[in-house]
Amino acid sequence: MTQDRRISVGVTGASGAIYALNLLKHLSSYYSEIHLMITDAARIVFATEQNLSLPESPAKIAKILCQHLNCDDEIIKVYAKENWYAPVASGSAAPKQMVICPASMGCLSAIATGASNNLLERAADVVIKEKGQLILLPREMPFSTIHLKNMLTLSEAGVTIMPAAPGFYNNPESIDQLADFVSARILNHLGIENSICQAWGYKN
Ligand SMILES: Cc1cc2nc3c(=O)[nH]c(=O)nc-3n(C[C@H](O)[C@H](O)[C@H](O)COP(=O)(O)O)c2cc1C
Repeated sequence: MTQDRRISVGVTGASGAIYALNLLKHLSSYYSEIHLMITDAARIVFATEQNLSLPESPAKIAKILCQHLNCDDEIIKVYAKENWYAPVASGSAAPKQMVICPASMGCLSAIATGASNNLLERAADVVIKEKGQLILLPREMPFSTIHLKNMLTLSEAGVTIMPAAPGFYNNPESIDQLADFVSARILNHLGIENSICQAWGYKN
């Protein structure tokens, strides 16, 4: 495990709660602190897609997720949407890396315009202004011109857009393996070598 690594993670109400759970599981092996923001809509999607009921209380969410992911309960810190005193709200304390997985079209739009209406949007705004690394995993089908323009705006601001689009060339046999593929690519971009999936060109 890599010590003293800190990362922010946003989870929004786009479909793909499995990507969020899979990513958190892998990040917990490499990061000592995961600063998590999860929207109300994301809690609805978790209940719908994963049959995982997350309460409103940030502390309870952290406990449930740590149990679910079987990770050390010190690693995941969850913040309420208006906790402006959280470290992620200020460039002086925020982790330099942030992933939003999955990213709804609504959150994409808010970040592209700098709205900062809740802690998740503010945390993303902070990472952009501090020239840190922000990765978004947008999920919608099809994308409208508005969605695409927002993604272009964000890309021009240095944000990495990694759509929820797993490859099939490793012949995945389960949904978890598809989610692993996406997490592996995100970890690659975070600068974390991993063997979650077979790398391209190394297949026998
Ligand atoms: C089960 C479910 C699936 C959804 N899937 C998507 C989706 O794939 N992409 C998207 O942008 N919004 C999706 N939505 C709608 C968003 O949850 C909604 O726009 C919400 O306002 C997003 O808020 P947030 O960005 O604060 O999480 C979905 C909603 C539900 C309940």
